[in-house]
Amino acid sequence: MLINDENVSAKECIWRAWCVYRDTRTFTVIKRLTYELCSYSPREIVPVLDPVLSKQCGQLTNNITMETIECIMTRKSVRRFDETKPIAKDVLDKIVRAGFAAPSAVNARPWHFAVVTNRALLDQFAEKLPYCKFAKQAPAAIVIMGKSDKFLKAPFTPDYWIQDTSAATENILLAAHSLGLGATWTSCYPGERVAEVQSILSLDDTHIPLCVVPIGYPVEGENSKAKDKYKEEEVTYFE
Ligand SMILES: Cc1cc2nc3c(=O)[nH]c(=O)nc-3n(C[C@H](O)[C@H](O)[C@H](O)COP(=O)(O)O)c2cc1C
Repeated sequence: MLINDENVSAKECIWRAWCVYRDTRTFTVIKRLTYELCSYSPREIVPVLDPVLSKQCGQLTNNITMETIECIMTRKSVRRFDETKPIAKDVLDKIVRAGFAAPSAVNARPWHFAVVTNRALLDQFAEKLPYCKFAKQAPAAIVIMGKSDKFLKAPFTPDYWIQDTSAATENILLAAHSLGLGATWTSCYPGERVAEVQSILSLDDTHIPLCVVPIGYPVEGENSKAKDKYKEEEVTYFE
């Protein structure tokens, strides 16, 4: 039995098991067995497995991630969170990494991400941003910002930072949804909320907040089906 061999390390066991069973479902079982038999916490296992899996077949390793199209079509804004459920740091890390994976004009990547779990700061978002009241119940928020010192250096219109950070924001919303979390884009830019967020986070004015995205595990009912927003008349095919 692969996992019981005392002469090999847990990492080696995982590798051998993966070589035999190359699919995500079996991988979930391997992950659980490794946890039970080797006392590895999932936090320790996942970083070992992630590079192995992504190198081998580009599959996602989290057993609650979903198919891309399903994820896009079922995402919706979530504003009611389970206040008793914090978000593990590695989960937040995965979500913010999805932001960095966004496309960016001339690959300038003129962004910065603040991952906020500090209760006092989240409460300030709720108090000072009129359309972000539900940050009060959120265990975390990600603030997506443009960095003017980067986008002013871009070789053409600096305005592309808005598209770049918007693409990063959508990636973050989708990553959160695929991991079983809920989130909502709440607006900062353009308007006076930019200065509010800069003041709450003590940011200098090279950091321009595009939006604040409160994130949390949805309460029952918030997970209901997303609307189908497709409108045939808004699509033209040129064939
Ligand atoms: C640029 C932008 C700004 C938004 N600002 C807010 C906001 O300040 N507060 C809020 O609750 N939702 C905000 N939303 C979320 C929209 O209300 C939401 O996406 C829209 O109603 C469609 O619903 P859905 O996300 O569930 O599909 C914003 C969305 C976008 C794209």
